[in-house]
Amino acid sequence: MIPVFFTSSTGNSETAAKKIAKELGNAQVFDLAKVGVDEIKKHDKMIIGSSTWGEGELQDDFEDIWDSFANIDFTGKTVALFGLGDQDGYSYNYVDAMGLIYNQVVQNGGCVVGSYYDGEYEFEESISFKDGVFVGLALDEDNQSDLTDGRIKTWCEEIKGSF
Ligand SMILES: Cc1cc2nc3c(=O)[nH]c(=O)nc-3n(C[C@H](O)[C@H](O)[C@H](O)COP(=O)(O)O)c2cc1C
Repeated sequence: MIPVFFTSSTGNSETAAKKIAKELGNAQVFDLAKVGVDEIKKHDKMIIGSSTWGEGELQDDFEDIWDSFANIDFTGKTVALFGLGDQDGYSYNYVDAMGLIYNQVVQNGGCVVGSYYDGEYEFEESISFKDGVFVGLALDEDNQSDLTDGRIKTWCEEIKGSF
């Protein structure tokens, strides 16, 4: 079973998590705000996704668990990330939270797979954008909801080999 962890304020990341789980099969969705970081510690392979709020900040529930999240030893763990954001309204902070999560997982020894880019994005800056690709699946329900299902399908095909 592949756990798909999310936190979400208005439901967009939750919906994306459910779509990803359905696409992968053999996956289970967990709201991190409910299960807590201890559930993460139980798994060697996982998917983690959340949205960006404020100006490039973590979503509230993720902010609440951040201190314990930042203490997880990710050595030997494989992680794929997804992030929700608004590239038009927050063009200088698009899906920044995914980049913050990425940096912490890598710093704590984790192996992050599933970088993504399809050329359809229009944004100025993002912590999640490194070497010409996003560090995970960047989604935008505010401006490009029509692209979401295709992006999820393509990305899931890409990461299946790692899971
Ligand atoms: C007040 C506010 C601040 C936001 N800040 C950002 C931001 O800094 N970067 C970004 O990419 N999206 C930002 N967003 C957009 C949300 O991340 C986006 O709507 C997302 O789909 C919400 O997902 P959720 O329902 O899972 O929380 C912001 C939205 C609001 C209303």
